[in-house]
Amino acid sequence: MLNFTSATEWRSYTEQARCAGRRLGLIPTMGALHAGHLQLVQAAAAECDEVLVSIFVNPTQFNNPEDLRLYPRVPEQDAALLAPAGCTALFLPSVADMYPQPTVLRFDFGALESVMEGAHRPGHFNGVATVVSKLFHQARPHAVYFGQKDFQQVAIVRQLIADLSFDLELVVCPTVRETDGLAMSSRNRRLGPEARALAPFLYQTLQAAAQQVRQGVAPALVQQQALGTLAAEKAFTPEYFEVADAQTLQPLAAYAPGRAVVLCVAAFLDGVRLIDNVVVEA
Ligand code: PAF
Repeated sequence: MLNFTSATEWRSYTEQARCAGRRLGLIPTMGALHAGHLQLVQAAAAECDEVLVSIFVNPTQFNNPEDLRLYPRVPEQDAALLAPAGCTALFLPSVADMYPQPTVLRFDFGALESVMEGAHRPGHFNGVATVVSKLFHQARPHAVYFGQKDFQQVAIVRQLIADLSFDLELVVCPTVRETDGLAMSSRNRRLGPEARALAPFLYQTLQAAAQQVRQGVAPALVQQQALGTLAAEKAFTPEYFEVADAQTLQPLAAYAPGRAVVLCVAAFLDGVRLIDNVVVEA
């Protein structure tokens, strides 16, 4: 596995690989890798000649400086996991390399970002869209790999690709879970043992709500009960629980025939912000 820190060298390497007719797959990450990331790497390795992974804790997508400061950074451990999973080249740029000057351009995804993560983390998706656009331009991959765990991020990236005509395929891989159901996340490693034991309750709440959706319980009632269930478990501070259209991400007043529903949740546990989602197919 090759290692790059310079954006210029990374650009030139990926350009040469592209010109040689190799298929390039890119997995953008912020590091602290887990099995969810490795699944993306393996999916890319099955379809691509070059499996490119970027690790960059992107400051512009953090609206909370403390969250940015505490974000786990373990590049040596990450590198050791990547090669066996099939990564061929790793890009670890510096902030100065990615942001040689402050960006002026601002993204506005309209209704898609006026809800959930976008509503609770002002500027978050502007930062994601900025860095992802830079990474796409630098490597010019044929395919990019994202996890469904960040459901709204996937919708934003899909819109970004369409609106800016990026010539690449978006591959979305299912959420990888621990055996007790907790969605894998880099932030999980910040949970203390007691909180870690309670954490699967988030997914259990989602599953109970999904069952209600299948039974036709009204969206507002599903939301109210899920928020109540979470709030009753004192360790959790729910931020939102949404019953939304899986395509538009807009909260539902009623179910529409033939349209998938997504249940999305964000909650604090032990000072750590966890998100998760479940899709209920139509
Ligand atoms: O999902 C993430 O880890 C980040 O939002 C991403 C896509 C790597 C952009 O910084």
